[in-house]
Amino acid sequence: MITASAPGKVILFGEHSVVYGRPAIAAPVFNVSASAQIEAGGPGFRVIAPDLARDFWLRDALPDEPLAAAIRAALAHFTLDELPPGTLTVQSTIPLGRGLGSGAAISAAVVRALAGFLGRSLSPADVSALVFEVEKLHHGTPSGIDNTVIAFAQPVYFIKERPIQRLRVARPFTLVIGDTGVVAPTRRVVGALRQRWQANPQRYEGYFDEIAVIARHAKLAIEQEVVAVSALGKLMDENQEILEAMGVSSPELAGLIAAARAAGAWGAKLSGAGGGGNMIALVPPEIVAAVQTALVAAGASGVIVTEIR
Ligand code: MEV
Repeated sequence: MITASAPGKVILFGEHSVVYGRPAIAAPVFNVSASAQIEAGGPGFRVIAPDLARDFWLRDALPDEPLAAAIRAALAHFTLDELPPGTLTVQSTIPLGRGLGSGAAISAAVVRALAGFLGRSLSPADVSALVFEVEKLHHGTPSGIDNTVIAFAQPVYFIKERPIQRLRVARPFTLVIGDTGVVAPTRRVVGALRQRWQANPQRYEGYFDEIAVIARHAKLAIEQEVVAVSALGKLMDENQEILEAMGVSSPELAGLIAAARAAGAWGAKLSGAGGGGNMIALVPPEIVAAVQTALVAAGASGVIVTEIR
């Protein structure tokens, strides 16, 4: 039996503007993960993914089936036409469609498991490139940040189409991640923003430039011991204000963000595509429990506490 996994992720700064060439910061979230197992044998290659309500034979897969796309991308990489018989089982504890990278993590786990099954090796850069191929099918215009942070499993300062820059975290910090429970497909939110950008490029380019300045300051604050961690919270609040002006927040996100701030968070913002999904709050370690309680009281469907290091 071959087993492989990949973590979830949060975007700390710069979602959306990263699609338009501005820098962004993301980090893996190891509290949640996707896993893929392959057992050899059987009359063909079968794919079972209970969380995604999928159970199919690879030969019968529909052209737009994302799990089959990940398998085909890996086969093409290994220059193989077909797989030996086996059963691939995919599971994930990452909430689906809520900005925590479930799609990219599932694809990463699948291509890693296939490499193991075929006795081949894949570098993190190979995994990232394969997952990016699948992301393009789902999202249309992905920046590449999700596949990069998930494949390398390290905090990154990311600029589209540039080599990966690992981010050195001078002092670990704690995030509380609150789930609105609202599913918001990245493709839809990114597509709607693209239409607004096309209608008013000057305004949106201005927003993206402001977020780029925030992301650069945040990089310095994360990397340098001399800057107080709490300064990152202020930058999160500033980033959130612009995301709201861009129309990618939601009443549910705003409610959880306000609750976290009222409970004493240093700052809070949506994370990922927005429109629903998850928010993150930067909190002093001693008030983690209070922020957790406040988020649940404000309607969070799930709360994760994670340390970025
Ligand atoms: C999604 O995690 C982040 C977005 O910026 C989309 C992307 O970068 O491809 C919203």
